[in-house]
Amino acid sequence: MNDEYSESAEFIDLLIEPFWTMLRPVLTEVLSAASPTTAVDLGAGSGHGTLLLAHTLPGADVVAVEPSQGLRSALLARVHGDGDLRTRVTVLPSSFPDVELPERFSAFIAMNVLGHFDTAQRDVLWSLLAERLDRGGVAVVNLQPPAEPVSVPESVASTTRVGRLTYECRATAEPTGDGTLTWFMTYRTLDGDTQLDERTVSYRWHLVDADGLRAETAAHSLALAPVGDPELGVYTITHT
Ligand SMILES: C[S@@+](CC[C@H](N)C(=O)[O-])C[C@H]1O[C@@H](n2cnc3c(N)ncnc32)[C@H](O)[C@@H]1O
Repeated sequence: MNDEYSESAEFIDLLIEPFWTMLRPVLTEVLSAASPTTAVDLGAGSGHGTLLLAHTLPGADVVAVEPSQGLRSALLARVHGDGDLRTRVTVLPSSFPDVELPERFSAFIAMNVLGHFDTAQRDVLWSLLAERLDRGGVAVVNLQPPAEPVSVPESVASTTRVGRLTYECRATAEPTGDGTLTWFMTYRTLDGDTQLDERTVSYRWHLVDADGLRAETAAHSLALAPVGDPELGVYTITHT
């Protein structure tokens, strides 16, 4: 699989953190009702969600799936650096849909990930959830705007400081014509006004809106429900 994060892996943990500051309370509340058996983080990135699963479901085994070598390095370091996580979190160097997921799980998250999956891959995902998610278990996904194929003007998506350096991510997108947007991201490292590094990456993002997702999941006898601030675009998926 082509690693779309090979150029940006270094920056994702820092620059996705502000989004997790907003996501964390919503996910913590929803997931704390799940039984602490097995939890899955699909497309775990550097592990913000993996950590949340491990903390919210003490004692649960957590399976984190991350295909990108760079992001997996950050994830593995985070897991290995904590004695409790090291015994409970398994990091799979695999990608969906080829990954061997646990036969049963009580909690599942795929955060900031769905756009990587086309309609057919999402169908495989809903079928897998219908089969393997415990009755009483919960899956959480999110949708990132826009859901329509429109141009997105460039803006600063995230910025943070570490030591004396500033890290910045700028994002812009163009419709690609087949239900996808292509996102163009620029990651800059700045020392005051001096730019030390700049990387540009682009990737395709498959578009689906909440109604589309509701219809797709309903076809597998799964119920989609919004949770938290609607602006966050977070949804739970449970058995009907
Ligand atoms: C925007 S990042 C989000 C990472 C993490 N979930 C978070 O929110 O911090 C998208 C993630 O999806 C992963 N990904 C892309 N395609 C995937 C696939 N086919 N199977 C599993 N993960 C995938 C990427 O490697 C990346 O880690």
